Amino acid sequence: MRIVHTIAELRQALASARATAFVPTMGNLHEGHLALIRQARELGGPVVASVFVNRLQFAPHEDFDRYPRTLARDCDLLMSAGCNLVFAPDEGELYPKPQTFTVTPAPALADILEGAFRPGFFTGVCTVVMKLFQCVQPRVAVFGRKDYQQLAVIRAMASQFALPTEIVAGDTVRADDGLALSSRNAYLSETERAEAPQLAASLHALRAGLQAALKAGEPGDFQALERQAMAHLSARGWQPDYVAVRRRTDLQAPCPGDAEPLVVLAAARLGPTRLIDNLEL
Ligand code: PAF
Repeated sequence: MRIVHTIAELRQALASARATAFVPTMGNLHEGHLALIRQARELGGPVVASVFVNRLQFAPHEDFDRYPRTLARDCDLLMSAGCNLVFAPDEGELYPKPQTFTVTPAPALADILEGAFRPGFFTGVCTVVMKLFQCVQPRVAVFGRKDYQQLAVIRAMASQFALPTEIVAGDTVRADDGLALSSRNAYLSETERAEAPQLAASLHALRAGLQAALKAGEPGDFQALERQAMAHLSARGWQPDYVAVRRRTDLQAPCPGDAEPLVVLAAARLGPTRLIDNLEL
C-alpha cells in the first residue's frame, strides 16, 4: 500500500489506473470504514482511501481541533483491509488558498435534518468530496448509510453534475449492543457508552410502531411516534435534535397514505457528544 500526501503524487500514482474505487474518510478509522474498503475491493481496483479532516464541514463550535488525527494507525488498518493507495493531504495541499468556490446543495435536501442543526455542513462536505473526486477521478465511490443524508446529498450532487462516479452505499456496522460505529463514540464516557445503544433502540421501537400501524392499514400518526421517541430519549438524559420519519428518496416527510419506502433518522446529544443513526423500514 502506498501513501501519498500531494495531488501531484496521487495523479502520478493513478496515471495508469483504471476503474478506481474510492472511500473518502476523515481518518480515526473503525470497523465501519474498513467494511467500506472491503466493499470497494469487490467493486474494482485499485482501492484508494483519503484521510483528510475537512475544516469546511465543521462549525466554529464543533470538534475540528480535537477530532483525533491518527494517520499511522489508520494506514495500518487500511492496509489490513486491502486498500492500495492512501491520499492524506495536509490542509495547505487541499486548500492552498481559502476555498472561495464551493458546492452548495439544494436547500430542500441539505437544509433539513442535519443541515438544520449544522448550517453549512453539507456545503463543506460537497465541496471537499467534489475536490477529492477531481483528484482521484474514481469510477465508483463508497459512502456509509450511517450518514444517510450525506449519502443522499452526494448521490444528488453526482447526478446533477453528471459526475462519472457511481455512488455506492455501504451498510452501517454496529457493536454487539446495537450502537452504530462512529469515530465520535470514542468521546463517550463509560456511563454514556452504556447508554448510547438507546438511540438505535428508540429507532427500532419507532419502526415497530410504524410497521404495526401500516400493517393495520392505518396511515399512522407518525408525528406522535416521533414525539414519543424524542420524549423517551429526553427522559433518559439525552438532548435529541430530531427523530424523523422520512421518505428514503428525498428525505421529506411522507404524506398520509404514501406508499414510498421510508427511513427513520435521529440525532441526539449524549453529554457533549452528538450521535446520529437511522433505520430503513
Ligand atoms: O463522512 C465523512 O467522513 C466525511 O463527511 C467525508 C465524506 C469524508 C467528507 O469529508
